[in-house]
Amino acid sequence: MVDDIKILVVDDERVVIRSVEMVLKAEGYNIEGASSGKDAILKIEQHDYNLVLTDLNMPEMDGITLIRWLRQKKPEVGIVILTGYPSQETIKEALELGIIDYVPKPFTPAVLVDVTQRAVDWLRKQVSAEEEPKKEEFPPSMIEEIDRVIKQYRSRPGSSIPVLQRCQQIVGYLPPEVQKRVAKGLNLSPAEIHSIVSFYSFFTMKPRGDHNIRVCLGTACYVKRVEETLNKIKADLKIDVGDVTEDKKFSIEVVRCLGACGLAPVIVIDEETYGAMTPKKVTKILEEYA
Ligand code: FES
Repeated sequence: MVDDIKILVVDDERVVIRSVEMVLKAEGYNIEGASSGKDAILKIEQHDYNLVLTDLNMPEMDGITLIRWLRQKKPEVGIVILTGYPSQETIKEALELGIIDYVPKPFTPAVLVDVTQRAVDWLRKQVSAEEEPKKEEFPPSMIEEIDRVIKQYRSRPGSSIPVLQRCQQIVGYLPPEVQKRVAKGLNLSPAEIHSIVSFYSFFTMKPRGDHNIRVCLGTACYVKRVEETLNKIKADLKIDVGDVTEDKKFSIEVVRCLGACGLAPVIVIDEETYGAMTPKKVTKILEEYA
């Protein structure tokens, strides 16, 4: 159930607000729109929102200014950015401010729903972690190694990415407990660490199988019906996106663009790219890895 989640979408292009509303309302979300940063602040001051989806480039007040305001006044609100081609600097600033994730424009309904769902899951986990702190689930030797890495990098600026890379090598993935440990050790907020993990595709928050299948839900792949291939992979392997098969052989992830749009629809298994995918072809390919 997601109807308890209240979302505000902020964009100066009304067509963007309308399409986000249409897609997310169909999923059961409670959603409203604001056409400027100022309008958004007025609404946020009057109502409680769980999640704000905001554009970065807006006249009058840009998205970064709105995010800074949110961080100061409503730190509990989750933030996802909707963005076209922002400069590296802007993205870096947004990551440092602890956005949960981003949706690249133009977006497909599948990407929007996937990112929103993951952001909501993350927000819910934060709340339940505050209510009942979870016990560590990792062997003490792993925890010691993580702490050693944190200590080694602690005083170096810009150390979050190398620390997270080493932690992923140690644990195999970056679950919330590891992210929190890294955040605490590096004196950063959990939101900041989480946004780095969700931004860079080489990080994963879920365990991966021996063969990791990445299915592109970006625009070029989406219009060429990649969802049919994705559904076939899920049916063949009997798992959902984000899961690992019982024998730990396969895992499925969805991504926003694999940078091979000319080959759409595209999937990548481990490091191998497969273009012009169809449900029929994909079953044959999976059999080669079985
Ligand atoms: S949209 Fe699929 S590879 Fe770019």
